[in-house]
Amino acid sequence: MFSKDHLEGWNEYLATNSLKFTRVVLESPDSPTPTSRPLRTATLSLDDAKVLGTGNHSKVYLAPLWLPETMSATGAVSVACKLACDAYESTHSAKSHLSNEAAMFSAFPRSLQENWTGLHAAKPDQRPEFMPAVVPKFYGYYKPSTDSSAGPMPVDLARSIKRLSPILLMEHCGTNITQSGSYPLTEAHKKACLSLFVRLHAAGFVQESPFPRNVTVQPGPLSLPPAARRMQTPSFRIIDFGRGQHMDLETETWKILGFEESHSSFDVAAQNEEEYVRSYICNDW
Ligand SMILES: Nc1ncnc2c1ncn2[C@@H]1O[C@H](COP(=O)(O)OP(=O)(O)OP(=O)(O)O)[C@@H](O)[C@H]1O
Ligand SMILES: [Mg+2]
Repeated sequence: MFSKDHLEGWNEYLATNSLKFTRVVLESPDSPTPTSRPLRTATLSLDDAKVLGTGNHSKVYLAPLWLPETMSATGAVSVACKLACDAYESTHSAKSHLSNEAAMFSAFPRSLQENWTGLHAAKPDQRPEFMPAVVPKFYGYYKPSTDSSAGPMPVDLARSIKRLSPILLMEHCGTNITQSGSYPLTEAHKKACLSLFVRLHAAGFVQESPFPRNVTVQPGPLSLPPAARRMQTPSFRIIDFGRGQHMDLETETWKILGFEESHSSFDVAAQNEEEYVRSYICNDW
């Protein structure tokens, strides 16, 4: 967990030196050929961050991120910031969930992260519609770094820093559909949620945790400016890919295995997940 407890005793040092995290770049199918760019630094403040939610393996905050001037004319932007945090002993550590999730986000094609990609006739309805994004936009996976502009770092502090959680930054996508309490899912909303999973599967991904706590809702449609969006026209999103799996459907090779012991065929995994969505998300709970 990213906790100041790990850094107890270093207050004086930390008062004048911020912690550095370095982006871990994993290959993505859509990424352009890498070019060498000068290092850019953004500043994330967790001091006044609001907790968006807590899961079995993480804590997620809404935090301001100040981008370098060349990247933003508006100063701070809000990002959802996921940190590994073991709520209980489990077979796979919170950090391994977060790193699996980062691999999933790096593999998602842009079409799953875009709010509008033209008209699609998606199952189960097959009526051409404007498609919302399926997953949050990904802003990177960052690991704690012990490089310091203030010269060599004390060994004990460097050791404590290495124990901190990495940080996964993504788009804030509202509240989960259980948190929003009595938010009534109509038949159309249930179809919209199922359709997100069908589109995820069509791209070769299974989420492996298809529960209401892992679907978010926010006022929509997202094609309108924020002030014009309404809860009556909600926009849903799948979150939490810590256990996710990915198969390259062209070559039929598993690229991300998640934590499944025995891999059934991708089609079976996808069909099972759709059944789960029908019973856990589409049925009233
Ligand atoms: N992008 C996001 N936008 C808004 N809220 C989010 C986002 N990501 C996570 N949350 C909130 O944080 C909670 C925990 O996140 P997440 O489900 O990713 O953690 P987890 O520890 O992997 O969960 P689980 O207990 O399902 O394994 C979510 O239920 C949701 O309320
Ligand atoms: Mg979750």
